[in-house]
Amino acid sequence: MCGIIGYTGHRQALDIVIGGLRRLDYRGYDSAGIALHGEGGLLVSKAPGSVSGLRRQLNGQPTLGLCAIGHTRWATHGAPNEANAHPHLSCSGDIALVHNGVIENAEDLRTLLKRRGHHFRSETDTEVLAHLLEDAEGSTLEDRVFEALEVVEGTYGMAAVWTAEPEKIVLARNGSPLLVGIGEGEFFLASDAAAVLEHTRSIVHLEDGDVSVLTPDGYRIVDRSWQTQNRAVDRIQWSLSDVELNGFDSFMHKEIHEQPESTRRAISGRLQPDAGLVRLGGLGLGVEEIRNIDRILILGCGTSWHAGLIARQAIQELSGIPVSVEYASEFQYASGLDLGRTISIAVSQSGETADTLGAVRTARAAGSYVLGVVNVVGSTLARESDSGVYLRAGPEIGVASTKAFTSQVITLLMLALRFGWARGLPGPEGSRLARELDEIPELIHRALRLEPEMEVLAKELYEARSFLYLGRGASFPVALEGALKLKEISYIHAEGYPAAEMKHGPIALVDEEMPVVCVAPSDPLLPKMVANIQEVRARGGQVLAVGSEGDDILDAVADRVIRVPATSKLFSPLVTVIPLQLLAYHIARLRGCNVDRPRNLAKSVTVE
Ligand code: G6P
Repeated sequence: MCGIIGYTGHRQALDIVIGGLRRLDYRGYDSAGIALHGEGGLLVSKAPGSVSGLRRQLNGQPTLGLCAIGHTRWATHGAPNEANAHPHLSCSGDIALVHNGVIENAEDLRTLLKRRGHHFRSETDTEVLAHLLEDAEGSTLEDRVFEALEVVEGTYGMAAVWTAEPEKIVLARNGSPLLVGIGEGEFFLASDAAAVLEHTRSIVHLEDGDVSVLTPDGYRIVDRSWQTQNRAVDRIQWSLSDVELNGFDSFMHKEIHEQPESTRRAISGRLQPDAGLVRLGGLGLGVEEIRNIDRILILGCGTSWHAGLIARQAIQELSGIPVSVEYASEFQYASGLDLGRTISIAVSQSGETADTLGAVRTARAAGSYVLGVVNVVGSTLARESDSGVYLRAGPEIGVASTKAFTSQVITLLMLALRFGWARGLPGPEGSRLARELDEIPELIHRALRLEPEMEVLAKELYEARSFLYLGRGASFPVALEGALKLKEISYIHAEGYPAAEMKHGPIALVDEEMPVVCVAPSDPLLPKMVANIQEVRARGGQVLAVGSEGDDILDAVADRVIRVPATSKLFSPLVTVIPLQLLAYHIARLRGCNVDRPRNLAKSVTVE
């Protein structure tokens, strides 16, 4: 959720830590802070708001120092003000600590520590960790971390520094991602590889239960029983330009335009249209195993859940396997299930969403095989899945997911074809669909040319107070995704609904003031969609329809028609979603919203 960065080595730590925080602030941006071992002791500076505010606050202060930790926050406990910003300090101010996650027994620990005379300065759960470290008796910081963690319940990715050991950083992980970056005579720690990419490509992901000690001389990882662990060193594959704007005004805009390439990467070398085949190296399921699947459960949150809804229809139609799609946040508490012949597909951009990880653990405990469909290489979900397929979307920085969504959908559609092929989908049909899927990146490229038109529409609609998005079949999840994109970045109320369900409630809201976006590509449900559009028009609603090129049936019923390239009904979401992403983006810009950092949201939601 929040972002953590740290450095110890031979260079000035401040610029490295501030630079890392800037790359991480999409993870949380309520407030930021640093603790630096400087010439005059531990310099701690915190500020509500952005990293730039923190940097300004440091002007004129003595900031020379070779070891520092920093944090950018997404508030869980306590308002986003200076007192609640990290790092948190022990009473003496000798120990400083940054933390992601939630300490579940914080209140009990706070009461106990207060009784022992500790004085608290914030409302956060994190602060108890700083006082626990102070209260511990060990002579080294790592001894104290071990001692403190013995009484802590909850999740953490934490990093601490102590004036008694001014070159050392100790970090610990349980449920919140942390990695060590390896340099030459310098070491980094971060919650996310983007923060250290500028300095090193060699990283080691910590596992739950790991404690790591960094000094300029080296790093050491030990597990809970003090056993040294030799965790694998991974290479970050993406480049610095993947995490830079490259001339775009926002990451969201850049990522929308990357979709022809990102979807191409997802299928390249995997989809073999001429043979009608899909080869997914990480799938881990042979033909016999696919034939033995009784049921598929798709788990995800937010946009990833929408991708799962699109996959449901394709998997069911092509393979005959019944599919249910569950909100991971709800499914994680399911009990009494026998999922012995069920495959659970966990869909996640970050691979760190706490609810999705919780749901995966529930599914596995009920006997399910877990297949991860994940973007971030080496993420917790990738490591906890029995097998998996990476999205290859590259880093997604904009909080509102765009390119990860289309990569999720195209990857899940490949899976649907793979399952279909193993369970009797006729060869010629499989080949036809594979060829159509192979054309999707080009169709997305053509759909992006609608941008000027969407900009004009945005100018007409940006002052509306509420939007309704409707769709049927494969277009219903697109309606949900279109509404989500609009509400999360423009703060306009928007609801997605199955078009026919509208008459059971939302139609009461329709009047001349209400734009209704109807996702209506050419498919067998189009005549029914047209009937729903007429129902909206009869109540005075303004209809913006997203239809297919070459289809004029919508002209007679909709106020405005946007036409995207036509494709098969199962694949149309990959194309119809493009103008909806652009509409949300342009409306949000016209309303003066920060599209990359929408209020109250975070990119990676590592709390339940
Ligand atoms: C947050 C993000 C969304 C994302 C959702 C699930 O809400 O803002 O963009 O869809 O989490 O995240 P995941 O990383 O699991 O796909």
